[in-house]
Amino acid sequence: MSKTIMQENFSLKTYNTFGIDASAKYFAAFKSIDELKELLNEKKLSTFNHPLSTTILGGGSNILFTKDFDGLVLKNEIGVISIIKEDADHVYVKAGAGESWHGFVIFCLNHGLAGVENLSLIPGSVGASPMQNIGAYGVEIKDVFHSLEAHHRYDDTTVYFSNTDCEFGYRESIFKNRLKDQFVITNVIYRLNKKPRFNTSYGAIEQELEKMGVQELNIQSVSQAVINIRQSKLPDPKVIGNAGSFFKNPEIAAEKFEQLKEDFPSIVGYPLPNDKVKLAAGWLIEQCGWKGYRKGDAGCHAKQALVLVNYGHANGNEILQLSNDIINSVQEKFGVMLNREVNII
Ligand code: FAD
Ligand code: EPU
Repeated sequence: MSKTIMQENFSLKTYNTFGIDASAKYFAAFKSIDELKELLNEKKLSTFNHPLSTTILGGGSNILFTKDFDGLVLKNEIGVISIIKEDADHVYVKAGAGESWHGFVIFCLNHGLAGVENLSLIPGSVGASPMQNIGAYGVEIKDVFHSLEAHHRYDDTTVYFSNTDCEFGYRESIFKNRLKDQFVITNVIYRLNKKPRFNTSYGAIEQELEKMGVQELNIQSVSQAVINIRQSKLPDPKVIGNAGSFFKNPEIAAEKFEQLKEDFPSIVGYPLPNDKVKLAAGWLIEQCGWKGYRKGDAGCHAKQALVLVNYGHANGNEILQLSNDIINSVQEKFGVMLNREVNII
């Protein structure tokens, strides 16, 4: 007997952190692979003449809806976090894709498992973490990712992906590129460290630890420092709608960076190993005068120019239009192209 419920004309306002008032023609949540299969089947066999388009939703914290979704939104609620094996140096933890990412980080902290403390407080689900290889404060999930299980949306097969299979890059994976819209990630296995290798060199972590009066470094204190820094500059989506960084930090040739430095001596860039430099997009956007800008309810956050916000009733197109205006002005002033990090639907 069917356990899943398909709802019609379903409001997604509380299912995306931008708080955009879009709706889905059909909406259903699944708690297991069997329920997912049932829904994908129902989609094909239903009264519709042609298969519906589908999209998978985790926490909705990296999505901008620019219109109502004329298809089936499937909300991933596959749960359970468990330790599955260990060796001399590592512990392997399997997490259901519908678990909250920060809940997974807390599980690791409580079990003394290191590797994700710098990734504390990133919103969203475990299942979305490999989608864009989430990262913060010098760590990316590729550093602790072991493998994942995914269900093919169209041919009803289960496929396993190793770390290299995922083709991780900066905010990139195979699932955003070659295999876009093909798979539903159902479970992820991470390989955590028994012995911490602290990474506190990035940003203001050391300063924050000092402020906190931390004498002896541990994963809990690093996590708390990261949480404090994040809360001081990133808007809480429960208060102001947003999806974190709207754009990626652009990577340019080191030579172009040197040229830009002549005209803009305070430009912020971090050298990369491949003769490239990663620019701070927030700096570029701020220099173009957008920081704190607001038109209607769409705006550019006053404390972090890389974050676009919805003050209440902006629609997705107003946010998208603002992002286009920002892209054009950064291109015009610096000759640098910004690419969006947020998934536009
Ligand atoms: P969703 O927004 O629901 O989905 C994102 C994309 O993944 C969509 O294309 C969706 O279809 C797809 N998807 C989701 N789940 C699955 C699945 N199980 N199978 C297949 N496809 C799936 N990101 C960072 O990397 N670093 C940060 O520091 C960071 N800070 C943030 C701060 C704030 C305040 C906010 C709001 C966001 C931030 N983000 C950050 C972005 C966001 O939290 C991450 O991208 C997160 O992984 C998105 O998870 P989600 O479950 O909300 O994904
Ligand atoms: N800056 C400005 N003005 C601003 C914002 C930033 O000049 O308004 C400059 C400052 O010089 C600052 C530098 O940019 O030192 C970097 O800023 P910050 O440390 O806030 O990080 P970011 O590069 O803006 C990236 C990630 C974040 C991640 C933080 C911490 C991307 C696209 N964003 O932001 O990830 O949390 O570093 O590691 O890589 C996300 O992906 O959604 C996200 C929030």
